[in-house]
Amino acid sequence: MSGGAAVRRPLVAANWKMHLLAAEARAWCRRVRAESGGARAGAAVFPSFPLLPVVASELAGGAVETGGQDLHPEDKGAFTGDVSAAQLADAGCVWALCGHSERRHGHGEGDELVARKAAAAVRHGLRPLLCVGETRDERRGAATEEVLARQLRAALPHLPADWALAYEPVWAIGTGDTATPETAQAAHAYLRGLLAGEARRTPILYGGSVTPENAAALAAQPDVDGFLVGGASLDPGQFLAIIRSFD
Ligand code: 13P
Repeated sequence: MSGGAAVRRPLVAANWKMHLLAAEARAWCRRVRAESGGARAGAAVFPSFPLLPVVASELAGGAVETGGQDLHPEDKGAFTGDVSAAQLADAGCVWALCGHSERRHGHGEGDELVARKAAAAVRHGLRPLLCVGETRDERRGAATEEVLARQLRAALPHLPADWALAYEPVWAIGTGDTATPETAQAAHAYLRGLLAGEARRTPILYGGSVTPENAAALAAQPDVDGFLVGGASLDPGQFLAIIRSFD
């Protein structure tokens, strides 16, 4: 079930994770801003929090969007080390990653907390980019669909009209073990099938060892509406090549 990929504008997002310093971020933004115009896919970047001012200033008034990699579910308070949705919005973000597997598995964040983070993002006008994905053991145990359904359904009541979903199989992240186009398509079609009405138009991005070499075959799948790119996004040339895979 494609749901009409042609009507959904692709989105290619860079998740820098805990990489880059200000000078590198500035150079990246200048190049991607200058060279991504005219591409069919839109572009977004998720920098570490200290890089947000430099990224926001370099990308101001342009088409490349910015997002936070995580946020706290409360609006403010005594939460040392955390960042609020209001602070992300104030720093120029329009997106907030919710439920990245490195938060779910590295920081023990469960579905209920991820849903509260998505709700906080929405309260402050940010668009949640909800990440879901199964571990290798869950895939081996034929639990992929059950995991994806559980992770998606927990957040769904809190999502606005304008959000995006990323399918990031944990076994494919940072491993070089990219999902085949068929595996990604099957998961994306399953996820789209769980969405009702207007939500079926929600862009579903694929993440997990995307490179300029494998992007075109993935982008050709009817339910793959973009990418969430980690390692390869750090190099602006590679990121631009991945954006162009949708042209
Ligand atoms: P890699 O592209 O490095 O596998 O990371 C994917 C990811 O986690 C993006 O959020």
